[in-house]
Amino acid sequence: MAGERPAQAVILAGGQGTRLRPLTLARAKPVVPLLNRPFLAFQLALLREHGVTDVILACSYRVDDVRAALGDASQLGVRLRYVVEKEPLGTGGGVKNAADLVAGTVFVLNGDILTDADLTAMRQFHEARGSRTTIFLQPVPDPRQYGLVETDTSGRLRRFREKPAADAEITSNTINAGIYLIDAPLLGRIPSERPSSIEREFFPALIADGIPCFGWCPTAYWRDIGNPAAYSAAQMDLLEGRARMPLQPPGECREGSWIGGGGSVAADARLVPPSVVGARVELHRRCQVGPGAVIGDGSKIGPEARVEGAVLWERVEVGEGAVLRECVIGADVKIGAYARLGPGIVLESGAVIPERTTLTR
Ligand code: GDD
Ligand code: MG
Repeated sequence: MAGERPAQAVILAGGQGTRLRPLTLARAKPVVPLLNRPFLAFQLALLREHGVTDVILACSYRVDDVRAALGDASQLGVRLRYVVEKEPLGTGGGVKNAADLVAGTVFVLNGDILTDADLTAMRQFHEARGSRTTIFLQPVPDPRQYGLVETDTSGRLRRFREKPAADAEITSNTINAGIYLIDAPLLGRIPSERPSSIEREFFPALIADGIPCFGWCPTAYWRDIGNPAAYSAAQMDLLEGRARMPLQPPGECREGSWIGGGGSVAADARLVPPSVVGARVELHRRCQVGPGAVIGDGSKIGPEARVEGAVLWERVEVGEGAVLRECVIGADVKIGAYARLGPGIVLESGAVIPERTTLTR
């Protein structure tokens, strides 16, 4: 409608990304590369698809990384603003710190969630129920590492229990998927003078005070990318079509793979789809890249080397005959000739692996 404010979102992007170490020693979690784009670019593209163009990033840690990767995000069709906590304020305090910039009904997102959910349907659900806070829910086999949510048959929230430890507390298999719609005036309930948790304090208090809050449980792709296995799996899910891409990887799509400019591909190198090869990458003679390879800008894949189901950040050098399967390799890593890296191996940026080393888990 003419004159209406653009829909708004606050993204929580101030955690330390501890579970994604060692990758997050080199780069903040919200901007680790996903198919050669900063992770949050996928969230911003999804928000944009659903008409959310005014986005506030609630940061506290490694803000320079995030700014360098995303800037004002105008190339993604959104306006991105940053609010920075002096000390980490937790998930509650982080949202509160952005509260002055928002009005109406606002999306709040954890900055590590990859989903293709229909956020327009979530907003319609929120309005139709007269909900004041709506939480996106997902069923999972083991809720212990999440926020467990119980609803009644109408979808109204009855209980929110963050990281339930005791078996007796596991009363449902639905968890908080880390995306909320919140009526902005409710943010006045969050204290501004101290750190707080939206999961441990804000949600339980809304329920206790009888404020109408609902759970919305769509059939959608959903994953928290906050540990190396999930970070890697998310990229394979996008490549293999289990998750819809709101944004294409950079480069030109050819025969099921994306390839950036300025590189060189030997005539007998094999690029097996689906894969993503960045800009200025060298694929040397008789190497095989893919299926499921993501190669960062400026990397070199040596003669006869193989890279499958693996994610390589920028400027990785893979020596002759080396084999990399289902691993994640940070930026500027050098892998010696004939080294073998197996599933689940994660290398910190800058690591040097001598030739003929075998690393398995
Ligand atoms: N601004 C700011 N300040 N952001 C923060 C802070 C802070 O002090 N602490 C954490 N965050 C951000 C993180 O960067 C992340 O994007 C989000 O808040 C959630 O933190 P995580 O550390 O990823 O939490 P989690 O994965 O253990 O649990 C959360 O997500 C689950 C779904 O994946 C909770 O919301 C659970 O209830 C939920 O089930
Ligand atoms: Mg998380």
